Amino acid sequence: MVIKKICCIGAGYVGGPTCSIIAWKCPDISVHVVDISETRIKQWNSPNLPIYEPQLDEVVKECRGRNLFFSQDIETGINEADLIFISVNTPTKTFGIGKGRAADLKYVESCARKIAQIASHDKIVVEKSTVPVRAAESIIHILSANKKPGVNFQVLSNPEFLAEGTAVENLLNPDRVLIGGEQTEEGRLAVEELVSVYSHWITKDKIITMNTWSSELSKLASNAFLAQRVSSINAMSALCEATGADVSEVAMAVGQDSRIGSKFLQASVGFGGSCFQKDLLNLVYIAECLNLPEVANYWQQVTDMNVHQRTRFTKRILECLFNTVTDKVLTIFGFAFKKNTGDTRESPAIYVCSHLLEEGAHLQIYDPKVVPDQIIRDLTNVNVSNDPDRIRNLISIHSDPYEAVKGSHAIVVLTEWDEFLMYEYKDMYASMKKPAFIFDGRKFLDHDSLIKIGFQTETIGKRYARNAGFSFFSLDTLKD
Ligand code: NAD
Ligand code: UDX
Repeated sequence: MVIKKICCIGAGYVGGPTCSIIAWKCPDISVHVVDISETRIKQWNSPNLPIYEPQLDEVVKECRGRNLFFSQDIETGINEADLIFISVNTPTKTFGIGKGRAADLKYVESCARKIAQIASHDKIVVEKSTVPVRAAESIIHILSANKKPGVNFQVLSNPEFLAEGTAVENLLNPDRVLIGGEQTEEGRLAVEELVSVYSHWITKDKIITMNTWSSELSKLASNAFLAQRVSSINAMSALCEATGADVSEVAMAVGQDSRIGSKFLQASVGFGGSCFQKDLLNLVYIAECLNLPEVANYWQQVTDMNVHQRTRFTKRILECLFNTVTDKVLTIFGFAFKKNTGDTRESPAIYVCSHLLEEGAHLQIYDPKVVPDQIIRDLTNVNVSNDPDRIRNLISIHSDPYEAVKGSHAIVVLTEWDEFLMYEYKDMYASMKKPAFIFDGRKFLDHDSLIKIGFQTETIGKRYARNAGFSFFSLDTLKD
């Protein structure tokens, strides 16, 4: 079989960009991206795409209507395709067995049932979503129990490694493409078909093939290792603040060791995003189910350290602001979980802001890409607040950073947007209450010049002033 038609179920942060690049690089393949969400499909077919990714607009504009199509017609998409990507969300379960840790596979399962019900000729089904190890077994089981007579399926694992904010770049020049398949003749042939799609633009040495279970586990392992690096440097940042060391210098010295490497050693207010926390918890749950409690505890610590980091940062803000933020005005710069995305899923900003709101602060929030409704939804969500009306009265969302700063006691930087480096902080300082504070949760601003302007400057992993040497009362009530 030569792949001529691809269907992708799930037009999200992964399905949308991945299929746009496939369509762009494979003009001989027709790519149909389908989704149950009417809004999402409408947005993909409009000038305002549902997600912000640098360079994505141009790619979509070139391919849409040519060999890239977005629709809600899931049945046609499935029926016509030779190869189907399942790229739906796999969130953490919020109820039942494994609640709060296990991955919820209900969307993946519903795709498998739909494929079996609709497909009238042989198909390769590809797990693109991040799933627990051996999830392909369940998909195979559902497909073979429900398929039409004479129809055959091959199930492959092809996890996605793109990071948000750099999706196009990562998809064009990936470190590797990973494909797992059955170790049978049919399995090997299916793997080769998928390899031939990626070979349109990726060299063979970057396309790794292996058994399905290794591929599934490698995705969870990669995210766990990356998250572990962030938690490791964040653990060091606490030591730096207590000792006078500077975490950037420590990271530089450590990262120069070629066995360790320099990437993912930027200390921060904590990692966010839809993947790290969810995939770590999934890994912890798998280890527990396999009766490996020490392994589970080991990976649990990575997420515990992350929670500790953002709580520690919030406590620092409180201490510096004379142990109370009640009725103080704080400006929040950045709400997305990282720069160059409008995504706020698991953003540390949600947790820092909600702690500050609990303490009675008024927040004036500015983010260049996050839409105001999303910020309100995140801060009034039942998981972070049980009094949404009170929260709504305590926050205001701004489209101009200079307006957002007026009259505030402090600026709290929670996302490392490049534009934050360009501001006229002298003007901002003039419009603020004194002493004016700046808390840089990303350790990326020019602190020397901020101090020169007059800002009381605080950051992660370095202490400029010992102005919070003792507390008037204990802040231990603020729990992780
Ligand atoms: P997302 O929530 O942005 O998109 C998922 C889409 O699937 C939604 O639009 C939803 O409407 C749709 N959907 C759900 N069930 C459906 C069904 N039965 N039929 C049709 N459409 C359906 O999720 P995402 O961020 O794109 O992540 C998708 C998967 O990829 C997850 O498993 C995630 O862990 C993994 N992943 C995400 C990233 C990332 O950076 N976001 C990176 C690598 C891997
Ligand atoms: C991650 C993985 O990198 C990607 O391979 C996977 O496919 C999906 O999950 P993403 O969540 O989009 O991607 O962003 P990433 O760049 O990994 O950053 C995750 C979080 O860690 C962000 O909040 C980021 O600000 C934080 N981070 C990252 C740090 O705090 N310090 C660092 O050095 C790197």
